[in-house]
Amino acid sequence: MPTHHIRIMRPEDRAEIARLIFHSLNAYYDSIGRGELLKGDPLTAAVFFDVYQKLDPDEGIVAVDDDSGRIIGSCFVHPRETHISLGIMNVHHDHFGRKIAKKLLNAITDRGKSEGKPVRLVSSCFNLDSYSLYTRAGFVPFTTFQDMMVEVPEGGLAHRAPEGFFPRKATPDDADAMAVIERKLTGISRRQDYDYFIRNEEAFWSVSVIESEGGDGGLEGYLVSCGSEDFNMLGPGVARTEAQAAALIHAELNVQKGRCPVLLVPVTCGDLVAQLYQWGARNCEMHVAQSFGPAEELKGVVMPTFLPETG
Ligand SMILES: CC(C)(COP(=O)(O)OP(=O)(O)OC[C@H]1O[C@@H](n2cnc3c(N)ncnc32)[C@H](O)[C@@H]1OP(=O)(O)O)[C@@H](O)C(=O)NCCC(=O)NCCS
Repeated sequence: MPTHHIRIMRPEDRAEIARLIFHSLNAYYDSIGRGELLKGDPLTAAVFFDVYQKLDPDEGIVAVDDDSGRIIGSCFVHPRETHISLGIMNVHHDHFGRKIAKKLLNAITDRGKSEGKPVRLVSSCFNLDSYSLYTRAGFVPFTTFQDMMVEVPEGGLAHRAPEGFFPRKATPDDADAMAVIERKLTGISRRQDYDYFIRNEEAFWSVSVIESEGGDGGLEGYLVSCGSEDFNMLGPGVARTEAQAAALIHAELNVQKGRCPVLLVPVTCGDLVAQLYQWGARNCEMHVAQSFGPAEELKGVVMPTFLPETG
């Protein structure tokens, strides 16, 4: 029986992990008849490695086959002040069903237990292997999202912005208020992520915020978008109300002109979903947020993303 061991990810693993993500996701989606999820050069998947290593160097873990020395499983890990997130769990398709993912997952939940923090993620409702991996390990789903894609014309959305809200671009001074509003609405915060998005070193992040009335520096919500050539998505974001979320989405869609970004919207936000349909949105997937350990009930609108994983 072949054996493997778990170790921390290293910078030199970049290309091998990118290929693993590319081929394992494609093999899985192909196996359920949905064709290949990722297209083109396998190294496009390196965008995950690059962002995750920048945000959380030396936190991701890999499973290495002892015979070949090849990486056969990987998972990114984001320890934050309130919780630990995990993202892009994947195993080489030749090794599916050998409990490699379970071993990687156990290493992360053990860490969560020892640090007294819940472990959180967003998993696909189509991918029952990953859904089952987590729920068998003791994760409990707590919010369901529909993944909506919106084609944004080259000239921007033809529809006018929702009235009465004035989203503006975030500045470094907004990071504290982003942490406060997210914690109020969802019970979690992740200060280093907000600073990272606003710094925008890769020149593909954009962040909009809506200020609270009263001019005390407080926020009603924020929304990030990622315009990387290899990954185009809105999120993470939170807002107190669906109308505010719509205004933030409108602002960030207009940053992504000529593209077709995806965003995750809670299925319970009927008005917001209706608004997105009016803007031409199409559903393309369903995801569910899961937590190992307590998760607070959401008090507003939350829009997670996979880069970085922010369930
Ligand atoms: C999802 C994925 C990571 C699972 O990896 P794996 O190494 O094959 O999984 P494991 O062998 O560790 O075990 C999976 C667990 O789920 C269980 N399981 C799988 N399907 C199940 C089902 N339908 N019902 C109940 N349990 C199920 C298995 O029994 C096992 O639990 P157990 O050990 O307690 O019996 C792998 O299929 C993969 O890489 N897929 C492509 C990439 C991907 O989709 N990643 C996730 C989203 S980013």
